[in-house]
Amino acid sequence: MLALFILVLFQLINSGCIASPATLVSQSLGESDVESGVVESPLGVFEVQAPLRTSYDGASCQQVVLQHTFAASYGTLYIGTYAPPKDCEFTTTIFNLSVTSSGINYDRLGLIFFGDTEIWRTTTAMPVRTGIFWNYQKDMTIYDTLLRSDQKVIMSLDNLYDSVFTGAYNVTITALYYNDPQTVTPADLILPISTQSSAQNESSVISLPDSNANVSFTLPRNSKRAVVSVLASGNGAEEFWYRNVPTEFTSTFNNTVLYGYSPFREVQVLIDGELAGVGWPFPVIFTGGISPGLWVPIVGVHTYDLPSFEVDISPWLGILCDGKPHSFEVKVVGYDSRTVFGTVGSNWWVSGAIFVWKDEGGNQTTGTTIQSISSEPSFQLMPRITGSTNSSTNTSFEVHLSAQRTLSHTSIITTSSGSQNLTWSQTLSYSSINNYTALGFNKTISALTNGTSTFSPSLDDASPIRSTFSYPITFHTASLTPTDATTANSTIVASLDRSLLSSSIPILSYLTSPFKLPTVLATRQTGNSVYYWNDTYYEFAGAIDPAMGTYGATEQWFSSLGKVGAYGRHVKAVDGYEPVLVLNQEYNSPIDVPDTKLAGIAEVLL
Ligand SMILES: *[C@@H]1O[C@H](CO)[C@@H](O)[C@H](O)[C@H]1NC(C)=O
Ligand SMILES: *[C@@H]1O[C@H](CO)[C@@H](O)[C@H](O)[C@H]1NC(C)=O
Ligand SMILES: *[C@@H]1O[C@H](CO)[C@@H](O)[C@H](O)[C@H]1NC(C)=O
Ligand SMILES: *[C@@H]1O[C@H](CO)[C@@H](O)[C@H](O)[C@H]1NC(C)=O
Ligand SMILES: *[C@@H]1O[C@H](CO)[C@@H](O)[C@H](O)[C@H]1NC(C)=O
Ligand SMILES: *[C@@H]1O[C@H](CO)[C@@H](O)[C@H](O)[C@H]1NC(C)=O
Ligand SMILES: *[C@@H]1O[C@H](CO)[C@@H](O)[C@H](O)[C@H]1NC(C)=O
Ligand SMILES: *[C@@H]1O[C@H](CO)[C@@H](O)[C@H](O)[C@H]1NC(C)=O
Ligand SMILES: *[C@@H]1O[C@H](CO)[C@@H](O)[C@H](O)[C@H]1NC(C)=O
Ligand SMILES: *[C@@H]1O[C@H](CO)[C@@H](O)[C@H](O)[C@H]1NC(C)=O
Ligand SMILES: *[C@@H]1O[C@H](CO)[C@@H](O)[C@H](O)[C@H]1NC(C)=O
Ligand SMILES: *[C@@H]1O[C@H](CO)[C@@H](O)[C@H](O)[C@H]1NC(C)=O
Repeated sequence: MLALFILVLFQLINSGCIASPATLVSQSLGESDVESGVVESPLGVFEVQAPLRTSYDGASCQQVVLQHTFAASYGTLYIGTYAPPKDCEFTTTIFNLSVTSSGINYDRLGLIFFGDTEIWRTTTAMPVRTGIFWNYQKDMTIYDTLLRSDQKVIMSLDNLYDSVFTGAYNVTITALYYNDPQTVTPADLILPISTQSSAQNESSVISLPDSNANVSFTLPRNSKRAVVSVLASGNGAEEFWYRNVPTEFTSTFNNTVLYGYSPFREVQVLIDGELAGVGWPFPVIFTGGISPGLWVPIVGVHTYDLPSFEVDISPWLGILCDGKPHSFEVKVVGYDSRTVFGTVGSNWWVSGAIFVWKDEGGNQTTGTTIQSISSEPSFQLMPRITGSTNSSTNTSFEVHLSAQRTLSHTSIITTSSGSQNLTWSQTLSYSSINNYTALGFNKTISALTNGTSTFSPSLDDASPIRSTFSYPITFHTASLTPTDATTANSTIVASLDRSLLSSSIPILSYLTSPFKLPTVLATRQTGNSVYYWNDTYYEFAGAIDPAMGTYGATEQWFSSLGKVGAYGRHVKAVDGYEPVLVLNQEYNSPIDVPDTKLAGIAEVLL
């Protein structure tokens, strides 16, 4: 990955796109601040992200899309309206999400819809009494067609607000519109894969496996490209699906610390019941996840912008353009030792959208028979239980699970503009070693998910466009819950090392605007924490409240190279009596990102 990064960097430097050598652009906290242990108030709890533009100045116009305080909002939605800006020329739209909170609360999931289509899924940081805030920017240009018409805006952020949970979330989203010198060819239609409930003032998210995510649409007969985008996140028993065990082992320790359906998940996109493509989900860790002590003031990768995945369904257009309805379904499956695939626990929240581009000519699109490879993945399972199941605290359970999948669909698609060989292919690999010790109360989880995908370029381009990704993660947690919570606090001891490495050209942004170089990203987070809470007072009381005596330290390396150029950041935070940034450096060049160490098992995985 690093080699590829350097290669692309080298090409960009040679083509004069970016400056070299590495330059330190800012260091926002000096030595003296660190030594005096300054706690900013309110505390900025941030997700490291590369700037989306060289400067956010120079917007043609801007407007507030949503401004709402979510207090006792459990089951109550924000409903508002969006109108496109008047007398404003724009090609590019960026949303700036800004949130403030003070008090005590858990992390909460927020879903933002334009009508029936989910456009952003986020989670919140956990507040402190002295207040927190964060801002996050997201490029919304792929939704251009929605942004140019009136929309009902629906946001859910289920929050408890009472004498114990005193943190409300004040959310503002501002749209910034820019008129950039570039051609934008947004999708003509965006069709929601959702419950389509906005007319009833309800959220359109689908909960799996309790419900089903099957919708039917008739595509325009002259469609020339179609891409499905899917958002899927695990909650409840599925929040940490990657530390679950195959279902036959959930009773190993005769307690409830293990959840089932295996640590493997696949999110599938099916057309008329046939598998079109898959996503092997990135493990987003919310701010209460693994240990809340890890996420102050640096939150996890993708915490404020849960990632979607894309499947190019253009090879299916010969079938989809016949003027008849076709079904589009999203499923979430886990490994099942008996049937390869099976159901999962409760619950996954999913929604998706089909982005459709029409050919200028009105003729019906036709296609040759789709050439497909989509056999089920191969799985290897190796469980090992040691000790008896109900006696000694040394009893442990180690399980290795790995999987590989190859999938591709190819067809010659003909429109009024000509014929093109359109292909979508994916190669994915997964490998995990999970070790449950101390009757399952100690867990050491290691997993590597990586893969490549390929889609066909637009007519004027040559070779297929390839993206790669890799997300190794390893963490250890030990939880101690006392028998009498009035005399002893609960404890979580945690350590984590995880990365996200990718070199990608997202299909939707490629088809919407012409930038054709991959965005290369490498980021790694490491951390450790000891975290206490009083179970009888209220769980996670003062989760990140200095008075609790929690300890945490998190370090992050971030290096990216893309449309805007190069960006590097290296930050290190200590969340103890007073949260401080002990290191905070930004660079206008890529930086070295050391590899995640998969806890001494790399030789088994690789
Ligand atoms: C986003 O909004 C916050 C709060 O208003 C503001 O401080 C920040 O400068 C904004 N960011 C951008 C890029 O406009
Ligand atoms: C929420 O934030 C906005 C923008 O900063 C502010 O104008 C408003 O007064 C806040 N609302 C509450 C209830 O604090
Ligand atoms: C939906 O909410 C809007 C704004 O609160 C309201 O005007 C409208 O009557 C509601 N529609 C339904 C079907 O409840
Ligand atoms: C499991 O725990 C329950 C409740 O503590 C106990 O009744 C049962 O005998 C245990 N089963 C085994 C196999 O240890
Ligand atoms: C989804 O639709 C397809 C095609 O109509 C149908 O075969 C399938 O049974 C449906 N699935 C569910 C869960 O309704
Ligand atoms: C469109 O279809 C008409 C009728 O079949 C045909 O005559 C014409 O050649 C087609 N145009 C193109 C550009 O394929
Ligand atoms: C279409 O593209 C695929 C993938 O690049 C290739 O394997 C196949 O040979 C091509 N088919 C034709 C007819 O060109
Ligand atoms: C899992 O834990 C057991 C018991 O502590 C230990 O013997 C074993 O080496 C561990 N396995 C791995 C892969 O770390
Ligand atoms: C559980 O983990 C804790 C913290 O890492 C460690 O001190 C303890 O020895 C572990 N217990 C077992 C049985 O492995
Ligand atoms: C995953 O990574 C391993 C180790 O770098 C590599 O050998 C393998 O080809 C990758 N698999 C995919 C599908 O990219
Ligand atoms: C937890 O809080 C309750 C209520 O304030 C108190 O009675 C109890 O002693 C506390 N437990 C510990 C371990 O401090
Ligand atoms: C439990 O945590 C509370 C809150 O930080 C603290 O006041 C109390 O002393 C702790 N109790 C014990 C027994 O450690």
